[in-house]
Amino acid sequence: MKEYSWGNFEDQFLDELVQWIDGRRVLEVFSGNGLLAKKLRERGVDIIPTTTFQGHDFHEHGMHCDVEELPASNAVKKYGDDCDVLLMSWPVATEDASVASILWGEEKPMIYIGEVTDLAKHQLGGCASDSFFEMTKVSHTFQSYRRGRSGIEHASVRRVLPGAREILKRAVDEWNNTLRTFR
Ligand SMILES: C[S@@+](CC[C@H](N)C(=O)[O-])C[C@H]1O[C@@H](n2cnc3c(N)ncnc32)[C@H](O)[C@@H]1O
Repeated sequence: MKEYSWGNFEDQFLDELVQWIDGRRVLEVFSGNGLLAKKLRERGVDIIPTTTFQGHDFHEHGMHCDVEELPASNAVKKYGDDCDVLLMSWPVATEDASVASILWGEEKPMIYIGEVTDLAKHQLGGCASDSFFEMTKVSHTFQSYRRGRSGIEHASVRRVLPGAREILKRAVDEWNNTLRTFR
């Protein structure tokens, strides 16, 4: 089966990722067709892949492993306590990744693969929301991840920062104020 994906899952990167995971249990959200989970399982990683099948994920070309149909926040509520690492590759540019991250919490690491928004550099990525990048901080970057689709993607370990809820609340309030102008 052809291996469609947004993330760039080459052997060298997967080996580095598995080494970093180091036997910990992984919850994957925004999994799409399950390609990354399949490749990590083949390398011995204990992983629970979840996604919604809204599209933009090639699942219509076939699934690479069973993926549970669950919104990211519900997946964290259901499996978060049993997992050590939260993984997301090319999450969509809504607040869903932000809400899932807040529910995941500050204690445990997340692995993020995708385009990066950095407003200070006038760089606007197509994954996750502005608030996600404001409320999380990179603690490690995977050097072997090769940029594929765009010049602004990377793979990193991120931590949720204190004050994440306030950042999300401010973003939601701003959006609600914008919507009010339509009434
Ligand atoms: C751009 S695809 C990325 C798929 C895959 N991770 C990859 O790298 O190719 C985003 C996936 O997230 C799913 N999705 C969208 N909103 C979601 C949500 N709120 N919770 C979980 N998954 C969601 C989409 O249906 C799709 O399967």
